[in-house]
Amino acid sequence: MKKILITGGAGYIGSHTAVVLAEAGLQPIILDDLSNSSEQVLDRLEEIIGEKPVFYKGDCNDRAIYEQIAQDHEISGVIHFAAYKAVGESTQFPLKYYRNNIGSLLVLLDFMQEKGIKDIVFSSSCTVYGQPEILPVTEETPRQEAESPYGNSKKICEDILVDFIKSKPGMRAIALRYFNPVGAHASAKIGELPNGTPNNLVPYITQTAAGIREKLTVFGDDYDTADGSCVRDFIHVMDLADAHMKALEYLSKQDLDFYDVFNVGTGKGDTVLGVIKTFEKVNELELNYQVGKRRPGDIEKIFADTKKINEVLHWQPSHSLEDSMRDSWNWQKSLS
Ligand code: NAD
Ligand code: UD1
Repeated sequence: MKKILITGGAGYIGSHTAVVLAEAGLQPIILDDLSNSSEQVLDRLEEIIGEKPVFYKGDCNDRAIYEQIAQDHEISGVIHFAAYKAVGESTQFPLKYYRNNIGSLLVLLDFMQEKGIKDIVFSSSCTVYGQPEILPVTEETPRQEAESPYGNSKKICEDILVDFIKSKPGMRAIALRYFNPVGAHASAKIGELPNGTPNNLVPYITQTAAGIREKLTVFGDDYDTADGSCVRDFIHVMDLADAHMKALEYLSKQDLDFYDVFNVGTGKGDTVLGVIKTFEKVNELELNYQVGKRRPGDIEKIFADTKKINEVLHWQPSHSLEDSMRDSWNWQKSLS
């Protein structure tokens, strides 16, 4: 059985990816320092996939933990999710973000090259596009100056991968640019666990519906969009997880010293108010919300052109926005 190291595998996207890999007959090996997740996720994964994934509690910046993993397992490939991701916090503590997000990639690439582990899939973000002039965005759309140290760390990591592969290390890499991941596993055993007050839209919606937050504020309804609220491309986390499996399969068939980048979205833009309406409709409830001021730094609209990932990786999303809103709410309910 091929073993895949998943850094940050106890987190939101990593845990769902562990399910997809296990169901495809691969063995997930999880490395996580639990800085933004809990060990309980491993029990939940066991309930879903039938066995507890191998788990190492450790820091991805610590070379010694990789040595330990390599001694215990023959790793075929790596998916590197581990990173800090709070945009606001990154503007307050830029060094913390650069150290963790960039430092961990450097330590990991060194380790992989030395041990002859060829394939890496890296978590990037549509944040690298900023506010694009032309929509939808293709992978050729120029990247723009990042709005935050978090966003910049993703751009820098992409650049590091490009330069590293150019140096012919005998490896293969794909960066996946995620649009807005939402939803949860249909079992409601795993999902997104935001720390403190959520910044992202869907956890804020579900926590408001659950009575944890009093009211959701829609940040602006005077944008140049169908209903005036911002537009995003909301991708179900299980579809996103599946894209990692497809990326690994594709990498294994490429010549060495290969790098490419793919958008992972649905190709469809939904407005914030549209998301709220869908949430209310599928879950048959009314959400307490008001329209407020624009949030500084927000992008008006962005959604993905998905032709490349559809054609090259043979990946298609299979969940609708309705599925995402139902699964997110079921997950929220399971927490109370
Ligand atoms: P998450 O915080 O739920 O998961 C990240 C995991 O990495 C956490 O379990 C955390 O404990 C772990 N981690 C962080 N630093 C670590 C370190 N040094 N060593 C070991 N473990 C460490 O986040 P997520 O939403 O699952 O995101 C996964 C990746 O996808 C991140 O790289 C993130 O930047 C990227 N991404 C996320 C989104 C999103 O909206 N969720 C969008 C675009 C890109
Ligand atoms: C944000 C980050 C981005 C990161 C992404 C995923 C910023 C500027 N961008 O993107 O770098 O990759 O999260 O983690 O922070 N909204 C409300 N009310 C709320 C929350 C959100 O109206 O309480 C709106 C926002 O204004 C936005 C949309 O919902 O229009 C989506 O917001 P969010 O979930 O924070 O994601 P992004 O802004 O797309």
